[in-house]
Amino acid sequence: MNTPRSDAFIFFGATGDLATKQIWPALLALSKAGRLDMPIVAVGRKDIGSDAIRAKAKKSLDESKTFEADAFEQFSKRLSYVAVDYDDPSTFDALKVAVGQARRPLSYVALPPDVFEKVAANLAHAGLASDARLVLEKPFAHDSESAKALSEALYAFFPEQALFRIDHYLGKEQVENIVYFRAANPLFEAAWNREHVASVEITMAENFGVKGRAEFYDAVGAIRDVVQNHLLEAVACLALDLPEEGGHAALRGARTRLLSQVSELSHESLVRGQVRGYRDEPGVAKDSSTETFAALRLFIDSPRWAGVPFYIRTGKSLAVSITDATVRFKAAAHPVLDDREPAAANTFRFRLSPDNAIALVANVKSPGEAMIGEPGELVLRRSSAGALKPYERLLGDAIDGDASMYAERGAVEESWRVFDAALKADSTAYIYEEGSWGPEEANRVGPETGWANPAPSAP
Ligand code: BG6
Repeated sequence: MNTPRSDAFIFFGATGDLATKQIWPALLALSKAGRLDMPIVAVGRKDIGSDAIRAKAKKSLDESKTFEADAFEQFSKRLSYVAVDYDDPSTFDALKVAVGQARRPLSYVALPPDVFEKVAANLAHAGLASDARLVLEKPFAHDSESAKALSEALYAFFPEQALFRIDHYLGKEQVENIVYFRAANPLFEAAWNREHVASVEITMAENFGVKGRAEFYDAVGAIRDVVQNHLLEAVACLALDLPEEGGHAALRGARTRLLSQVSELSHESLVRGQVRGYRDEPGVAKDSSTETFAALRLFIDSPRWAGVPFYIRTGKSLAVSITDATVRFKAAAHPVLDDREPAAANTFRFRLSPDNAIALVANVKSPGEAMIGEPGELVLRRSSAGALKPYERLLGDAIDGDASMYAERGAVEESWRVFDAALKADSTAYIYEEGSWGPEEANRVGPETGWANPAPSAP
């Protein structure tokens, strides 16, 4: 990589929930690895001061059990805090002072998309946009039109090659493994098409709600929070045409090509849900119709996938916190040997969260005299030892100027296109109970045999 490294890290949204859960641990890890040897400037609206941000960072590290005294001491020496007013460009001048001699700052913006343009303009006003990089959190805008307009507006301050549209799913070891597994096992890849695959199903279930981030979430909802980005990128990894050349840049293009083939979702193929009690959360509008659950059925308009349904489901406050992506192959039409029923369909289940595993359902003979059998599961578990956490991986790449594991502009716009019509349609958000699998109505768009509810792995 011959692009120069960034030499200052400016962190917008440093007091938010994402910072606490994911970003401080990632920054400490980068610092420990010697990749963040530069001023780190945390930015927020409240005038809390540098000591308070150091205390917040420490608390986050304590909570994620990643605190290390020596490493933190080095890290916190470089960490300062600046309060800004997004409507007052002159407040950004203090950022320029805080980065000192740095000439190639990277700004990471973990804020809602409606302030991205203002942040970019104010950074430019303060002289922090030239030779600089801008990493923008998802969701990037709220539909395909606004995503296009946002990119165009940002170009007044940052060229395309300085923009990094982050999707932390792309930095997940488990998501990368989908592509590797397909590429490195030609036996399975030979059957990875409409001739053999009956359907693909992804469930991203979370057993927690929106506490602490209700204000952000209520303006966004499940589709814009995780489906348009994380889950569609997972679909891209499951379905893309493997590029002949290696490297992440080729995969980035392959994902965009696949996303451009996903058909627009009709509103009949979408069911939205809202968990009971959501409207009572502080920060949520009393008459909110925001969905905390979505179930949908997509198709990919390509010779390889025509007619194969891709079922997607996600929700907050569901029964478990597990994400599974299952590729279900066509079952045999007739029973074999002494079986009375056709054997179960083969499936591959990729566990994307919380652990890293692949399970293959195959049929084996049942003990006894008759030639009859039953399905069993072969499970391949991977340890996460040695894996970089997604934000450590991706923010480290951005500091190095490598955007190949970021979403391309085209990928973002194509994935918004899929949802444009359905998001405009005025649909009901069906109420479901906390700890359930979402509203009954979700079955309307799910597999004929019902959604597969992920279960925690056996020890
Ligand atoms: C974030 C969403 O992008 O992804 C959250 O905003 C969601 O609502 C999270 O909980 C899930 O990510 P992970 O890596 O914990 O599965």
